[in-house]
Amino acid sequence: MERTFLMLKPDAVQRGLVGEVIQRFEKKGFKLVGLKLIQVDRTLAEAHYAEHRGKGFFEPTVSYIMSSPVVAMVWQGKNVVALARELMGATNPANSNPGSIRGMYGMDISRNVIHGSDSVESAGREIGLYFKPEELVDYQKAGDEWLSE
Ligand code: GTP
Ligand code: MG
Repeated sequence: MERTFLMLKPDAVQRGLVGEVIQRFEKKGFKLVGLKLIQVDRTLAEAHYAEHRGKGFFEPTVSYIMSSPVVAMVWQGKNVVALARELMGATNPANSNPGSIRGMYGMDISRNVIHGSDSVESAGREIGLYFKPEELVDYQKAGDEWLSE
């Protein structure tokens, strides 16, 4: 079953959006298999955004995710990588679908509430950065039988 890495960024935690955003993924039918509140250090922040090194927004973005705690999560489900990106909405909340998470809760590209892996390959890399294998829990969830045949 496919897995993705999602992170509630410092603005989500500080604005009290943690429960509301998690609920969107729960209600969709995805399964939470890993969760922790952490303070990201520079090594982890730079590894997370390594693909953006050299771009103008690299340093502010790295500093930003170190500025206050974040909620790191792994979610599991059919096509979860792409569907989570759909639920999140476009990177810049100014262009996000108004029903999406960023569209509903965000105003600015640098404070866009949530991070989600952009491919199955990125998900594997990001899950490995934030979680040890033993921190991920697979389990049978009541109601799974009502989600698909
Ligand atoms: P993430 O899920 O956070 O990775 O967003 P994304 O995949 O939709 O965007 P991308 O990986 O291209 O950029 C990573 C993060 O850097 C974004 O979420 C933004 O917060 C920030 N970012 C990207 N582009 C810009 C930009 O042009 N200006 C600023 N200020 N921030 C940017
Ligand atoms: Mg990205």
